[in-house]
Amino acid sequence: MPKLTVVGFPTVEVESGKRLVLAIEQNAGVDVLHACGGNARCTTCRVQFIDGEPARMTVAEQQVLAAKGATGVRLSCQIVCDHDMTVRAISRLTGSGRPDPGPEPNAQVTPPPEWISAATSTAV
Ligand code: FES
Repeated sequence: MPKLTVVGFPTVEVESGKRLVLAIEQNAGVDVLHACGGNARCTTCRVQFIDGEPARMTVAEQQVLAAKGATGVRLSCQIVCDHDMTVRAISRLTGSGRPDPGPEPNAQVTPPPEWISAATSTAV
């Protein structure tokens, strides 16, 4: 099983294929935000990768990051845990002033993912 380390928290094992946003919340026990319910709209689920950044991303992630001018971050709702990863949870309920982290994301990546290379933004 892939290992997930959220900086400042113990390393945990994650079922392969689980959405990173759910792994951070449920496995690592970290209060990551997911204000749009994991639909690549809000970017509140953003994380910084320390190690193991995926080489692919969804078109939805690429588009919303570009639209918001966000660089150096990835959307945990658009990533599946299929290898070891170390991330920094930079967008958490704690200190956000929000009443809750947002609607529970579905088990599967939504919207239905269309994968491209994170480096070149070309289809893979
Ligand atoms: S973009 Fe909203 S939860 Fe990921």
